[in-house]
Amino acid sequence: MPEFQTSPGMRDILPPESARWRRFVHVFADVAERAGYGQVISPMLEDLGVFQRIGDATDVVTKEMYDFVDKGGRHVALRPELTASVCRAFVQHRPATPWKVWYTGSQFRYEKPQRGRYRQFDQVGIEVLGADDPYLDVEVIALGWEFYRALGLQQVRLLVNSLGEPDDRARYVAALQAYFEANLDALSAESRTTLQKNALRVLDSKRPQDADVIAAAPMIAEFHSDEAAAHFAAVQAGLTALDIPFTVDAKLVRGLDYYRRTTFEFQGLTLDSAQNALGGGGRYDGLVESLGGPATHGVGFALGLDRTLLACDDEGVFAPPAAAVQVFVVDTTGGLEAVRITGELRAAGLAADRAFENRSMKSQMKAADRSGASVAVIVGTDELEAGTVVVRPLRTAFDPSAADDKQARGQQAIARNDLIDHLKKAL
Ligand code: HAM
Repeated sequence: MPEFQTSPGMRDILPPESARWRRFVHVFADVAERAGYGQVISPMLEDLGVFQRIGDATDVVTKEMYDFVDKGGRHVALRPELTASVCRAFVQHRPATPWKVWYTGSQFRYEKPQRGRYRQFDQVGIEVLGADDPYLDVEVIALGWEFYRALGLQQVRLLVNSLGEPDDRARYVAALQAYFEANLDALSAESRTTLQKNALRVLDSKRPQDADVIAAAPMIAEFHSDEAAAHFAAVQAGLTALDIPFTVDAKLVRGLDYYRRTTFEFQGLTLDSAQNALGGGGRYDGLVESLGGPATHGVGFALGLDRTLLACDDEGVFAPPAAAVQVFVVDTTGGLEAVRITGELRAAGLAADRAFENRSMKSQMKAADRSGASVAVIVGTDELEAGTVVVRPLRTAFDPSAADDKQARGQQAIARNDLIDHLKKAL
């Protein structure tokens, strides 16, 4: 085993998978930008305090942060998510509202690594700051839905809930706390520990022992103020108007503490239940204020790239791209002609590669096949003297009825000067 390997929960993304990652972000950018969202690129490292505002009752903040004191004595952390950074940027730059942004990048959480759960993972997401309209929640959710459709994913379920206004939420948490305390004996040891920090998170427990107590717990809807109930009804009406199927899940509380009113989650039906959250989000009115800004409404989501690609693999959609180049240049005259030809091909906008180290014709043709190119351009001494090149299709079927081997391969000799025009027409 080599001395150095990636740290647990961190991975190298190699070609062609890396090309799939880039396309994933392109598809997302396209969906977001067509809806008027601009990209925000913020630092991977922020003052620890920025992320502490996510809430001190969440594991993301209390247990999983990669934080350290830098050489200047600042206590900083690698971002565990991007919503707090976007709100910090909003407070710092005060753009006009509604501020509609999208983002992509790596996040860091010190979690127990497993399939679909990593310590460095990537997200794409959107946030809108400064607008309090339930139809904005609908727009945000619909863009997530549209993105999954653009990838070709079908097995996705949308869950929605409302945590009510801050007062509603506080009354609900108090009622839940009292209820779980009255039923303490029936709860698992883990849930009893969770209860000491955050009664809402007990609802997230997937342990069979907790199922009955959770099923009979008070429901958030009983605590909704008229305003919160009207907001939630409008969100549901908007989703229905767009024919987006959804399920109201009264137990959907999500892992971060900043949510108010709408919360939602996209679940991948092909994934294990512990890692089936492909993405999620909601309203977080109050977060900007806690970062020192004016009272500002916020809504958004983040989608996990790693997990969404696992779901794509399960459904056989959005496969890694196949061929990397279109043309492969084979030169048995020493290599200088390949230098010229690949240079010309690339300058003309064609994707071209070549072999190095003056290998045999056979070895170069093998490399041409491996490259995934559609044609090989072959130069030998005869061609060099005659001012020609041979163009051999690599992906067309061999024709056994042809007069000779060259014809059977669809191979053609082309004047060197006509090569670019010929290939541009042929490819
Ligand atoms: P989150 O639910 O913590 O929300 O993360 C969103 C998505 O990131 C998850 O659904 C999952 O797909 C992916 N994810 C989270 N942790 C991991 C991990 N350890 N390994 C792989 N994937 C992971 C947020 O981050 C909020 N900032 C979302 C948001 C935006 N809310 C409002 N605006």
